[in-house]
Amino acid sequence: MMEKEQMLKIKGLGGKKTLSGSVTISGSKNAVLPAIASALLFKNPVRYTNVPDIEDVHRSFELLEALGCSVSPSKRHSVTITCSGNKTRLTEEISKRMRASILFVAPLLATRGEVTFPHPGGCVIGERPIDIFIDNFKKMGATCKESKHSYTLKTGGSGLKGAELFFRIQSVTGTSAFIMAGVVAKGETVIRNAAMEPEIIHLADFLNTVGAKITGAGTPTIRIRGTGMVRKNGATYVTPPDRLEAGSFLILGALAAKSLKIEKCNPEELHSLIERLELSGVSVKIGKHDLLVSAPKKTCKAVDIKTHEYPGFPTDLQAPMVVFLTACKGEAKVFETIFEGRLSYTEDLVRMGANINLWNQREATVVGPSTLRARELWGPDIRAGLAYVIAGIIAKGESTIHNVYYIDRGYENIEEKLQNIGVVIDRIKA
Ligand code: EPU
Repeated sequence: MMEKEQMLKIKGLGGKKTLSGSVTISGSKNAVLPAIASALLFKNPVRYTNVPDIEDVHRSFELLEALGCSVSPSKRHSVTITCSGNKTRLTEEISKRMRASILFVAPLLATRGEVTFPHPGGCVIGERPIDIFIDNFKKMGATCKESKHSYTLKTGGSGLKGAELFFRIQSVTGTSAFIMAGVVAKGETVIRNAAMEPEIIHLADFLNTVGAKITGAGTPTIRIRGTGMVRKNGATYVTPPDRLEAGSFLILGALAAKSLKIEKCNPEELHSLIERLELSGVSVKIGKHDLLVSAPKKTCKAVDIKTHEYPGFPTDLQAPMVVFLTACKGEAKVFETIFEGRLSYTEDLVRMGANINLWNQREATVVGPSTLRARELWGPDIRAGLAYVIAGIIAKGESTIHNVYYIDRGYENIEEKLQNIGVVIDRIKA
């Protein structure tokens, strides 16, 4: 059983701006997940450090263990993964609930010649097809058999072949997956319209340190010269800081902090958010590896947001930013361009007293400022769940957030980090 019946109870500040202290940012979920999947490319053990202690990471370890790999934690944020065996089926229960399980398909197919998996599920953020994956595996020479409950991909003994791949939509997991496939495939793989998120650069840099030949990561065209399975002793992946956790705390600080220092982050990866907050009237002090923010005394000004692939405004910070906009003066337009349906959580903010009009699956307007009132809320995904936590913190009264599992999928130790900066928050285990 994966979900645990847990709730967060938050005593809202009722608009007071009293939070203070510092928060240390954990390792990046979206960077470490593909790096963990890439252990399947190795003949030798791989060490991972600064690994976030979050549910998606635990589920990834379970997927690997079910495939015959060993995952041995040496201490809390550091593990060594050794892959061996020839199992080719991804655990159905985990895969169906975690979109990132699709990351394991490429290295398995590339190294074991076959993989069976169900349609991957995950957060409720609209349609999440896998056509790009299937079409491109076929271009690399795989066959695909689809049954009612699963897909089976096979390379038929000859292994994957390098190919020209065009992504009709930029996909971070898609780009990571085909980088991994390309490393083992024979010949050159070219990915066009590749995702340019920092997580892609982290993966390519890591694989290059162990002998892969990947160029162009961080640009729309990535070339991978197939070099085969990795045989390198002593490989270590150092997980970079989570830019989305840092961004979430920055938004919280802009709403409710006397002074909040966000430590061990990479401000370089947060330009689009910092630009919006500054335009709205928030001042952010940018250090090399930290940020300092405080909520302005004056009411901030509404700013429009349009989500975009990196380096544009991240879809993953859209929900927390909408909570910020409820406290701003004026009308803000919000346009979600990545995931249709990733605005449905706004109905709950309206129940809390926000003035938000949802025009369609992708567009909303927020008119503020509004004072939010505490409510009982059920988070639909990681980021909206965290947005509810922020809403609960600024609201008047005591809020209860259910579906904490979603928040735990991506945020390590959320209540402890918040308690340390002055939030009155408790986890209730049913
Ligand atoms: N898409 C297709 N066909 C496919 C694959 C994707 O049409 O075969 C479309 C999707 O419908 C969507 C877009 O492409 O419109 C991107 O979807 P995908 O599922 O590929 O998302 P992703 O880019 O791999 C990663 C993060 C997401 C994050 C986005 C931001 C990981 C594991 N996931 O998804 O993370 O929102 O980038 O672009 O890295 C999260 O952390 O909360 C989260 C959802």
